[in-house]
Amino acid sequence: MSGVLVFGATSLVGSHFVAHPPAGVAIAAAGRRSPDRIGIPPTRFDAVDLHDAKAVETVVAESPELVVVNFAARTDVDGVERERPAVASADPTLSNAYRVNALAPEAMARGARANGKFLITISTDFIFDGHRGPYAEAAPPDPLGPRVSWYGWTKGEGERRVRATLPQAAVVRISYPYRPPFGGKSDFAGWVREKGRSGALPPLYTDQQITPTWIPDVSSVVGALVAQRRPGTFHVASPTLTSPHGFATALLEADTGRRPELATGSLANRLQEPGVTPRPVRGGLVTGAAQALGCVLTSWEDGVRALAGAGRVP
Ligand SMILES: NC(=O)c1ccc[n+]([C@@H]2O[C@H](COP(=O)([O-])OP(=O)(O)OC[C@H]3O[C@@H](n4cnc5c(N)ncnc54)[C@H](OP(=O)(O)O)[C@@H]3O)[C@@H](O)[C@H]2O)c1
Repeated sequence: MSGVLVFGATSLVGSHFVAHPPAGVAIAAAGRRSPDRIGIPPTRFDAVDLHDAKAVETVVAESPELVVVNFAARTDVDGVERERPAVASADPTLSNAYRVNALAPEAMARGARANGKFLITISTDFIFDGHRGPYAEAAPPDPLGPRVSWYGWTKGEGERRVRATLPQAAVVRISYPYRPPFGGKSDFAGWVREKGRSGALPPLYTDQQITPTWIPDVSSVVGALVAQRRPGTFHVASPTLTSPHGFATALLEADTGRRPELATGSLANRLQEPGVTPRPVRGGLVTGAAQALGCVLTSWEDGVRALAGAGRVP
């Protein structure tokens, strides 16, 4: 049986992969907390904090697994924004988010390079400024500026550092990931259902373009990459576009059988207000490389239907 070392095994996205590993693949985990706590015991757990790049490199270099998958990140976009330096010349490594999202993946790449291992790291469409999406795999990430969040920029830096260190690595970008409820961190779909049930949904954006990612597709694509060890950039997202308002309306209609009249809002207007963290308006990902691996990606319309029919699964 082959093995994969997973960082971020407790995460919203990574916990699905470790609960549904490819056939014949044993999962070891590394990070602050073992996925034991969410009922998924790994074959081995290496305790390591991603703020410590040297320790991360050592864990990867010394692990017996030949493939490493990184789902770990600082993902609280608004919280991470508070770490954006006041001046462009400031040292980014003073930001904990930069250390976790950029320096730790680079350290994984160094550890993998030393021993001929394959690395897959997860990224986001927030590396783009969101004015010309949906974005193809080859589109260049945007520079840090008022339209790119500190989170997005640190993730883009993680990609850049991984590619520079280990050109044979794979980067998997995703966008607004959602899955059947599992008892861990909620996602956009879970939030819509919770607020929709209590009648507390705020106005939802009609002008924001998104391509929501069905999380089981991420597990399939990562599984295919584990098997094929293919380098490059792979987008995993709905091949069709929607908006938060369109997604929420269809999800609540699939859940209840009645089409709700949800209040509408504008992200472009919201971003004019002071202190609001930038997010892509015309965002989303164009897919193609993942299908070339032999994977079928789920449209948001099919994902919503699957969600409405799904119970609580791990
Ligand atoms: N969620 C989204 O909307 C979204 C959208 C696009 C892309 N992504 C990307 O998808 C990936 C997974 O995101 P997610 O939302 O599933 O993540 P998540 O649920 O927020 O979990 C974050 C993971 O990172 C680990 N982690 C964070 N800081 C760490 C540290 N200092 N040391 C060790 N481990 C640390 C956490 O471990 P603990 O158990 O110790 O907390 C947890 O496993 C990330 O690369 C993210 O950038 C997410």
